[in-house]
Amino acid sequence: MTAKSQPAKNTTGKAAPPLSLFHLLDPEVLANPYPLYHRLRTEDPVHWDPFLHYWVVTRYEDVVRVLREFSAARTPTPEQLTSIGLSKLNPLAQVMVKQMLFLDPPSHTRIRGLASAAFTPGRVEALRSHIRDITRSLIQATAANGRMNIIAELAEPLPCIVTAEMLGVPVEDHPQLKLWSQDFAEMLGNFQHNPDHASRILKSTEEMTAYFRSAIRQEKLRPEGLVCSLRDAEIQGDRLSEEEVIANCIVTMVGGQETTTNLIGNGMLSLLRNPEQLQKLRADLSLIPSAVEELLRYESPSQHTARLAPQDTQIGGKQIRKRQAVMAVMAAANRDPERFPDPDRLDITRQDNRHVAFGWGAHFCFGAPLARIEGQIVFEELIRSFPIWSLEPEPLVWRTNLGLRGLTALPVTFSNARG
Ligand code: HEM
Repeated sequence: MTAKSQPAKNTTGKAAPPLSLFHLLDPEVLANPYPLYHRLRTEDPVHWDPFLHYWVVTRYEDVVRVLREFSAARTPTPEQLTSIGLSKLNPLAQVMVKQMLFLDPPSHTRIRGLASAAFTPGRVEALRSHIRDITRSLIQATAANGRMNIIAELAEPLPCIVTAEMLGVPVEDHPQLKLWSQDFAEMLGNFQHNPDHASRILKSTEEMTAYFRSAIRQEKLRPEGLVCSLRDAEIQGDRLSEEEVIANCIVTMVGGQETTTNLIGNGMLSLLRNPEQLQKLRADLSLIPSAVEELLRYESPSQHTARLAPQDTQIGGKQIRKRQAVMAVMAAANRDPERFPDPDRLDITRQDNRHVAFGWGAHFCFGAPLARIEGQIVFEELIRSFPIWSLEPEPLVWRTNLGLRGLTALPVTFSNARG
């Protein structure tokens, strides 16, 4: 064991527990994972996690390199699953291997190109006034009570309704889309395998697949929605197959929900915990775009993502072998003091804030412009509606999704009167 990897001592003089992302399963660590990330970054920034069998990288520079250069094709194929006796998971694998999130060039370039042709900046911008209307109506629905569970009453329904609008499917289907997305997101965000949940996730995947298959064939879909435009997108005679349209509708639907919910919930909590920053924002609403970037950096909704080494390579002096798995911890990179001065301080005016909350490179979040608009509108509308916000004195409970960081509930009291 090198001096660098000697177990650290904590304040009681006892050896600190072995470094592993598995500590996130401890609710106390999940509530505040930043000391664990700090330990990883300072004690062993390119760490072989003995429990996960993954390399874990936590420095900004290394996270960017892994996201830029390593392979995203990490999901097992149906053939691989069959060969290890897990063929019952094949319906899930069949969908995932066609999703842009799990593809490398040239397949990724092709699908992302066709999807981008279908989801133009103009389409996103057209959703803006709609998002404001939905946000206002959700706020008004509960404003009279003076209290709001931000998660259940705003942060969950807003992205869910917006996603249905974006896809062009009937908006009244949004509660069902939410349930399916939650199941899929549970699998995306967690690295621990939970066999008890596998059958539910499989069932949801089959239902979602059937839902989008019938949606594609329906005439009544809104033509400006993503389902229609993915179906009809064409670049130099190339089009997506029906299976590719379905798989990428699913990844876009799932990608846009939990994460945006958590941007709103985590962001609101961060502002409540830093009242001087909230005050600064109230005093100057032109800071909203910069505040949203800082909230994404400070409490990143998507904490980590995985890649495979494309060949034998070295990072930070460690030898990584071809096809070994690497976990890039964006939330740790976003608190790297080498990149962000005083990283544990929330500063809504932070300059040069090139965080990695939306990833980096070819897989940079496809929905980032939409997520940014949703975040900006929500914080602006909440600030305009209520001069006083206070957190209710209930214990905060974090979702047991280790990768998609968010609260189960966030009860807040609002008031219009000061004093
Ligand atoms: C605050 C909200 C969001 C956050 C923090 C977020 C985060 C991310 C991250 C980190 C990635 C890259 C993952 C990787 O490289 O492995 C990603 C990719 C993706 N996101 Fe988002 N996302 C958000 C909102 C959205 C929205 C609203 C949509 C849908 C409109 C969306 C759709 C996608 C898709 C389809 C990908 C895959 C892109 C590709 O592989 O080329 N996301 N997102």
